[in-house]
Amino acid sequence: IMKIRKAIIPAAGLGTRVLPASKSMPKEMLPIVDKPTIQYLVEEAVNSGITDILIITNRGKGVIEDHFDHSFELEAGLKGNPSKEKLYEDVKAVANLANIYFIRQKETKGLAHALLCGKSFVGNEPFAVLYGDDVIVSDDPVTAQLTRCYEKYDKGIVGVNEVPEELIRLYCTLDVSPIEGEEKAMTCRRIIEKPSPDQILSLFAILGRVVLPPETFELIEKGLANTPEGEEFYLTDVFTELGMNDKLIAYNFDGKRYDMGNKLGIMEANCEIALKHPEIGESFKKYLKDLVKTF
Ligand code: UTP
Repeated sequence: IMKIRKAIIPAAGLGTRVLPASKSMPKEMLPIVDKPTIQYLVEEAVNSGITDILIITNRGKGVIEDHFDHSFELEAGLKGNPSKEKLYEDVKAVANLANIYFIRQKETKGLAHALLCGKSFVGNEPFAVLYGDDVIVSDDPVTAQLTRCYEKYDKGIVGVNEVPEELIRLYCTLDVSPIEGEEKAMTCRRIIEKPSPDQILSLFAILGRVVLPPETFELIEKGLANTPEGEEFYLTDVFTELGMNDKLIAYNFDGKRYDMGNKLGIMEANCEIALKHPEIGESFKKYLKDLVKTF
């Protein structure tokens, strides 16, 4: 089985749930303390052994490209100043993280359609997908957890966690069964998108990370061709097709996920990551403790 070295980060959504913040600024660029969301994702991919990353953007998201490029004015201004040495290194490092490519999704037709823009980038290899607004913090990067599982089973892997019952209707629900000798990997044969209460199969939902076989693109093409104009073809239907053919595994990953596509998720991410931040962690903790007393 081929080693997974390519990843796609779809970042071409409209971000309507975080308007007006996302009106002229892509939600993928919203900061968590001192780094934009998408940088956490690129770093996770790199720490998982990914060497080539395709970011799917659209009109108005050129700042994402700028972020992963050199900023000559900025670097020249910081260089040689002893008190700015660390900043200089940090800023320069962002441009050297990985081979990063960009392509535009010309119409916002959903996640499956966005992935199809990566067809020729991926070629005939398995690949990882990191949803552009899902940040997952863990010691062992989640993409690495999933690629190891792919390399073991040669099947599509969807990263899952259990979500609270009252929230499952916002996600999808998976029919899973245990695999002997595995603690985290489960067979998945069926998925229902945005289930009503009587459709809940389990509280496991797919959260932001998947590793897929190259045949994914044919399945998306077929699905899009059979979807009436104006309707969305969901990536979930691709997972379902893989599942029906015993080509899908759900992996219960270790990690804390933050949904940067909604307002509460943004605040949780900032708060928790600030508490662990080497520079401001201690003073932020003190601030929070004092603040809580006033409630
Ligand atoms: P979401 O459904 O969370 O993104 O897609 P959205 O459409 O921006 O959200 P709302 O509902 O309007 O607030 C998950 C990921 O897929 C990307 C998004 O950028 C996000 O990172 N996406 C979504 C695309 O790249 N293209 C699309 O057509 C839709």
